[in-house]
Amino acid sequence: SSIFEINVEVVRSLLCSVAYGSNLTFPPGFKFGAASASYQVEGAWNVSDKGESIWDRLVHTKPEAIMDLTNGDVTCDSYHLWERDIEMATELGLHFYRFSLSWPRLMPTGFSNKISEDGQKYYNNLIDGLLDKGIEPLVTIFHWDLPQSLQDLGKLF
Ligand SMILES: *[C@@H]1O[C@H](CO)[C@@H](O)[C@H](O)[C@H]1NC(C)=O
Ligand SMILES: *[C@@H]1O[C@H](CO)[C@@H](O)[C@H](O)[C@H]1NC(C)=O
Repeated sequence: SSIFEINVEVVRSLLCSVAYGSNLTFPPGFKFGAASASYQVEGAWNVSDKGESIWDRLVHTKPEAIMDLTNGDVTCDSYHLWERDIEMATELGLHFYRFSLSWPRLMPTGFSNKISEDGQKYYNNLIDGLLDKGIEPLVTIFHWDLPQSLQDLGKLF
């Protein structure tokens, strides 16, 4: 127990010196942001000409792979509610918002021979809307929602 008390005291004094010595302020230029991943927030897995992703295939053919049997079919529905997302980012005072592009939403076949107009419009709206509010868009090109068509082609990845 004495070791425990000593450790608590060490932690307490460290916390005190951090709290009282620094005013608990962030340095100038420090940026706050939020981050998301397309499969986890967009929903709208089958709207317009969006292609199927490996996540769509997995949760629909092996729902038991997810402990509580939920899936990303709807999630936060950011595909439809992106304007509210931007409002909330503004309300939070975020400096940047990092999101990822759904590959099969932008390229339904998996390849650049076909670019989805609706997919492109969705990301353009999101990016322009963020910029309008002075929020920096940061794009993750690939966050694991591989087009199922590429998975089916074999061992490309
Ligand atoms: C705490 O903030 C005050 C007011 O901004 C400033 O005058 C002071 O130097 C700060 N103290 C430290 C340790 O940064
Ligand atoms: C899209 O998927 C949902 C289930 O997530 C289903 O209810 C709906 O009928 C599907 N829509 C189309 C156009 O396939």
